[in-house]
Amino acid sequence: MMRRPLISGNWKMHFTVPEGLEYALHLRQDLSPYAALVDVLILPPSVMLWEIANALRGSPIKVGAQNAGWEDQGAFTGEISPKMLAGWCEYLLIGHSERRQVFRETDEELNRKVRAAFRHRLKVILAVGETLEEYDAGRTADVITLQMTAGLYQVELQHPVDLSIAYEPVWAIGTGRAATPEYANETMALIRRLLVRNFGEAASAMRVIYGGSVTPANARSLMAQQEIDGALVGGASLKAGDFTQIVKAAAEVTESQRV
Ligand code: PGA
Repeated sequence: MMRRPLISGNWKMHFTVPEGLEYALHLRQDLSPYAALVDVLILPPSVMLWEIANALRGSPIKVGAQNAGWEDQGAFTGEISPKMLAGWCEYLLIGHSERRQVFRETDEELNRKVRAAFRHRLKVILAVGETLEEYDAGRTADVITLQMTAGLYQVELQHPVDLSIAYEPVWAIGTGRAATPEYANETMALIRRLLVRNFGEAASAMRVIYGGSVTPANARSLMAQQEIDGALVGGASLKAGDFTQIVKAAAEVTESQRV
């Protein structure tokens, strides 16, 4: 880990509004002590985002949306726009594999979303990753290169730190089968090279985080890798105890690397 870590909790489609709010307040208490060393982010469902953002205002816990479209407004039933998030919601996750696979979002659409998000000064986490089939066929590097190149096409950045990449091998998501730290590190080194190719020196501020079955048990060994700047946590982010342990692991690794 070389940059300030980013630990994000992707709640996916879980919790009712009152449950989500209560949980967020709980996390605020548990996680605030680590915020000096770690950027802690939660990504609640959009229906409860405003409520939670208000409840966390003034706390170090950041909020983001799991998805948004690329238009500012219009006849797009069911969609929310980056303009609606601007000014109060700090982050936006784009291109999670469930968006790519279940909702059939293409690289071209994701690129539009990335550019729209930056137009509204949101911080973006662009998710990339290979499927099991692609992994088995030895195509990981090709897939990642394509997703990165297409997703970041003509993206211009005022603040490089506003872009993070989440590397999530699809076969590791929700399966309990995380990538080995070494494998993740190797692929994330490729992502880093692609960022440098795209953005030059500015890339050094960008974080590359790992997602896919991150747990309290494997968080430390993942975070200890040179190329891993944090985590995108799904299942384990729904349990305060687990999520806190993961944030704590990142804080401890950061601390130990300082001395
Ligand atoms: P998981 O999900 O931690 O449950 O594997 C990660 C993600 O989908 O972001």
